[in-house]
Amino acid sequence: MVIAPLLLSCLILLLLFTFLSRRTRSKREPPLDKGLIPWLGHALDFGKDAAKFLTRMKEKHGDIFTVRVAGRYVTVLLDPHSYDDVLHNSTSLDFSRYAQVLMERIFHLRLPHYNPAAERAAMQHHFNRDNLTRLNITMYRSLQALLASDAPPNRMDWKQDGLFNFSYSLLFRSGYLTLFGRRCDSSGGPTDIYNSFRTFDGFLTKMARTTLKPEEKREAELVRKHLWSLLSPAQPGEGAAPSPWLQGYLKHLKEEGADEDTQTRALLLQLWATQGNVGPAAFWLLGFLLTNPEAMAAVREEFSGILVASDLPEDQVLERLQHTPVFNSTLSETLRLTGAPFITREVLASTTLRMADGQEYDLRQGDRVCLFPFLSPQMDPEIHHEPEKFKFDRFLNADGTEKRDFSKGGRRLKYYTMPWGAGSNACVGRHFAISAIKQFLFLVLTHLDLELCNPDAVIPAIDASRYGFGMLQPDGDVLIRYKLRHPL
Ligand code: HEM
Repeated sequence: MVIAPLLLSCLILLLLFTFLSRRTRSKREPPLDKGLIPWLGHALDFGKDAAKFLTRMKEKHGDIFTVRVAGRYVTVLLDPHSYDDVLHNSTSLDFSRYAQVLMERIFHLRLPHYNPAAERAAMQHHFNRDNLTRLNITMYRSLQALLASDAPPNRMDWKQDGLFNFSYSLLFRSGYLTLFGRRCDSSGGPTDIYNSFRTFDGFLTKMARTTLKPEEKREAELVRKHLWSLLSPAQPGEGAAPSPWLQGYLKHLKEEGADEDTQTRALLLQLWATQGNVGPAAFWLLGFLLTNPEAMAAVREEFSGILVASDLPEDQVLERLQHTPVFNSTLSETLRLTGAPFITREVLASTTLRMADGQEYDLRQGDRVCLFPFLSPQMDPEIHHEPEKFKFDRFLNADGTEKRDFSKGGRRLKYYTMPWGAGSNACVGRHFAISAIKQFLFLVLTHLDLELCNPDAVIPAIDASRYGFGMLQPDGDVLIRYKLRHPL
């Protein structure tokens, strides 16, 4: 009795899957690879290790192909010479729809009048010129204060930590204090927010892919609610005024008609956008330096000029820290190896993509287009010799100036590394992020003795499930120990 309706449902589902799987490639479209599993297509391989999967697809189909992923068709473009045709086509290719899908899935956020261009304009000037200088000084003071309170008071004592936790925790809490403007206290302070954020961030990729197990869903919901309660604009900060950036953002949200609950959810999104990448980037940078003595010596030497004059006022220390070509190259190289965002657009109206080699491909309305600069240009052996190796001077010319001259197929590239994204939604906080990481490294190298607990330890491998979500994270951590060398 029960079996008949069950069989009927299965039959209907099978017919539906067969119908949905009927898509075939027309001559003007990119190669189509639907995968073997109905509806899911390549979703499992994509989610498990996107870099590995897309490398396999590139070897099979070339620089452009369409894959089926959980019912959606995604055209992947891997030729950096052709990226501008996607980035500049804002009439048919839309950034905001997919962003809204993710906002809803991860942050349970639906903005009443979501207008990315207005939001970007409202935000951008906080990270420019004088405002950036003020932010940098606040960040420097926060980093100094937290380092001083974290380090063992007795200069003979070592303290142990995981390098990832050490870097992430310090930069997250300083960044939070700088932008969200609340003070350290026992509950609801930066440490509580950091710990809760790490738990939340651990669920991020599964939330985005809607693959949380029921127990994980409950845990994610609890920690999300806890973070909302800590971030709520109705919650008074502990004495410190909100930063101009936060005031400006809340004003923008109110003007867009967002109620208090929506404002709180939007603040969690901003916490992720502003604090989720800097710590992991600092981890990889310090990890590469600790395991590459030549690179460490070069960065130390560059910083030593600033170190000699370390009794300078902080605005002048920061001024001197402006000119650091060796550090800049080392950071660019770090981000080349570990910055892996997807740049995704939704096809609003069928359109034609013109590749740099003259080939044209039709894109269908309702599909998505995805650029994955991590594979090319960043890990492309034609552009970067021995791309899997860390070479701190890869972005330096012989005369010490910044190297910008990289080619593919005999033509100079506009995009030779893209950890900050590109086009209309590229990172607005890029200069602040670079300065924060530089300050972190400068303070750590000048004020601490810091070393790997096991001198032969290697930096953990990449957590392959995080490709596509900005900075990569390690699969595990590596133990370090540190003590104060110079008082802060
Ligand atoms: C190493 C550190 C960082 C990296 C690698 C990074 C990377 C990125 C990338 C790839 C995007 C584009 C995301 C997309 O396509 O949807 C982005 C957007 C953004 N980033 Fe960053 N970011 C970093 C640090 C920061 C910091 C410190 C801030 C602010 C304090 C910030 C603020 C933002 C904002 C507000 C956006 C959204 C821009 C828009 O949608 O118009 N980022 N970031």
